[in-house]
Amino acid sequence: MTTEYERHIETLRERWDAALATAGYDAAVIAAGAPALHYQDDQHTVFRPNPDFLQWLPQDDCVNAFLLVQRDSRPRLFFPAARDYWHAPPEPPAWASCALHIDTFEDPEALRSALAAAVAASGRTVLCAQHDDSNLGCAAFNDSRVLHAVHYTRAVKTPFELSALREATRRAVAGHLAAREAFHSGQSEFAINLAYLAASGHTADELPYGNIVALNHHAALLHYQHLDRQPPAEHFSFLLDAGARVHGYAADVTRTWAAAGDGIRSEFRSLIEDFDKRQQRLTAAVQPGRSFTELHEAAHREVAGALIAFDLVRGDAQDIFDLGITRSFLPHGLGHLLGLQTHDIGGHLADRTGRQQPPPGVYPALRLTRVVEPGFVFTVEPGLYFIPMLLDELRASAHAHRVNWARVDAFRCCGGIRIEDNVVVTADGCDNVTRAAFAEAGDD
Ligand code: GLY
Ligand code: MN
Ligand code: MN
Repeated sequence: MTTEYERHIETLRERWDAALATAGYDAAVIAAGAPALHYQDDQHTVFRPNPDFLQWLPQDDCVNAFLLVQRDSRPRLFFPAARDYWHAPPEPPAWASCALHIDTFEDPEALRSALAAAVAASGRTVLCAQHDDSNLGCAAFNDSRVLHAVHYTRAVKTPFELSALREATRRAVAGHLAAREAFHSGQSEFAINLAYLAASGHTADELPYGNIVALNHHAALLHYQHLDRQPPAEHFSFLLDAGARVHGYAADVTRTWAAAGDGIRSEFRSLIEDFDKRQQRLTAAVQPGRSFTELHEAAHREVAGALIAFDLVRGDAQDIFDLGITRSFLPHGLGHLLGLQTHDIGGHLADRTGRQQPPPGVYPALRLTRVVEPGFVFTVEPGLYFIPMLLDELRASAHAHRVNWARVDAFRCCGGIRIEDNVVVTADGCDNVTRAAFAEAGDD
């Protein structure tokens, strides 16, 4: 039986063969890379393999491994496995041998000689790596014609990649449910994060990005990075943006909750419920052939609707949108491609030649501007925040009189809302992988 992994490798071979042929190469060497040393230290940074390598051999334990991709032949993995009593030696996963020719080397010099000999016998070869490694004898380094073409096609995920995404999402959801419970029992950001790690089965280093564990006004910092050891005096709200990784593929999930109680907590709960409906409406609008920039604009229209419905801003939704007032409440993009990287490469590529499609000037933070295609995986993550710096600017602007400042000020203690799901585009809409995993865990 052909495994999903074998079919995944077949697809990668087709993509790389086409990219190499167009640029006039017979082969590519893809380096996994190595971690950097901390300055004046013998300790390394956390290692993240070159994503172009990781897509072929989906495990982090691959320092200094290389893959030789030759047109029309089985990819060859050169894998170092030094004899070592300081660390457990790495091993390639046994299931990879169904699709790759694997040689392991105890001696790094023997690996390099074997690889250089294979390069010499491969014709015109391009090296794809973080650092130039000229001694391998490749004719070129990081030819952008090859890299743009493979990065452009990476937006469409294979069934193997979708299985990894679904599994990563299950783990993220288990973490979110445990974190929510820790929040409702009044714990600190630090303790909530520990609950997340235990339930999702991750060390902090394995996560796709540093968890954003934001109580109260901290949610107004989009990538809030601290973990307060002490619980706040009062809990108002909790924004958790936390993911998971399986075979290198990331889930990227955000939920926002209000603390139990009445007053502003109850009002914030209503705002979250309203915003959740709007987020689902945006997800339902995902269609192949639609530009993501258009969906992003639809998100701003939803923010305008929420601001008016909750008497935060006064006027007509169209005016509020046209005047750009929503940009003070939603300063990030609606979403981004998701895969081996949290913000997967290629979101601004107009085609496989590398032509760029930058975001409109008024939305500089928009990471995805492409026309949506079946098989794309991206996030849908609208937000509505009370960010002091942006509110100060709005207050000093000509539009200040449209804002109900007393009401905005009352919500500042809650920081803001983000609701982030991961979706797979289908032939006529999308599958919401995140909602499916919450439902599977008994939480809708
Ligand atoms: N977790 C980062 C983001 O949502 O883009
Ligand atoms: Mn995201
Ligand atoms: Mn996120």
